[in-house]
Amino acid sequence: MKAKKTLAGLALVGAIALTATGCAGGGSTAGGGGDDVITVGFAQTGSESGWRSANTESMKEAFSEENGFNLIFNAADNKPEAQIAAVRSFINQGVDAIVLAPIVTDGWDDVLQEAKDANIPVILEDRTVSASEDLYASWIGLDFEKEGETAGTWVAENFGSTPTNLVILEGTTGSSAATDRATGFAKAIEGTDITVLDSQTGNFTRAEGKTVMEGFLQKYGSQINLLFAHNDDMGLGALDAIKAAGLKPGTDIKIVTIDAVKDGMTALAEGEFNYIVECNPLLGEKTAEVVKKVVAGESVDKQYIVEDQAFDQEQAKAALPDRKY
Ligand code: AHR
Repeated sequence: MKAKKTLAGLALVGAIALTATGCAGGGSTAGGGGDDVITVGFAQTGSESGWRSANTESMKEAFSEENGFNLIFNAADNKPEAQIAAVRSFINQGVDAIVLAPIVTDGWDDVLQEAKDANIPVILEDRTVSASEDLYASWIGLDFEKEGETAGTWVAENFGSTPTNLVILEGTTGSSAATDRATGFAKAIEGTDITVLDSQTGNFTRAEGKTVMEGFLQKYGSQINLLFAHNDDMGLGALDAIKAAGLKPGTDIKIVTIDAVKDGMTALAEGEFNYIVECNPLLGEKTAEVVKKVVAGESVDKQYIVEDQAFDQEQAKAALPDRKY
């Protein structure tokens, strides 16, 4: 772990910041372990979904003591200010590296600059930020726009040539996952016979997915033919609302989601969902590898995109027994 630097000291080391990190060749003993232990502060979004639980588990497994890390974990309950405060606290603690899964895209410029000034590399995981690329070392994540486009292409192919009414449950407003999925999906259904009746955020949670779907059903009733949910959890919440309204999910209202966690895949295999685009949460191993390289001063790519697949009902039945999350 780095000693906390004074402002005067910071000015002096500013120009050689990255080199100095490289020379460190790993972290120090603070926080436990031997000389090679790397202390990492991980600012997670929260625990909003099954995807997030799988991602947290993957990260904790990869950033274990056995793998040479001392992990300081923080989950910000999806509150951007709390997440910024967590990053600031990691800087004050003088960690060797910060891993950030940013809740929202905007608002990171100041604190990322502070990390850079303190000679602490930041590695983004999962979502992206709008801040300058100079302020972080690398990003390990998913192509959210492609995920949305894959979902939209399936919808367009299956329902695009007959008048179809669609409602959308969006992820957290301002997150790259929600913004990019919306962009990709909209592009794919453009020019089809599909009408978007409504689109609202359900914050990636089951509870809000259910509440927002109840509102849609009250407003539009059986006019709704199709639901696109930006993640499985909101789709699973919507299932309850649809059943409570006396409708059959997967039949009366077709459902397309993103993630492919076990509960979502089970709903798909049982015919209650119709299509899922995967969002792979197992990013821990790659992120730990990148962090080690960055701390050792080795060069890394600016981004690593993890591949996703997609499943229909039959493919879900086949894949479910071997699903890891
Ligand atoms: O950023 C990835 C998204 O965040 C997942 O699709 C969603 O389930 C999670 O909360």
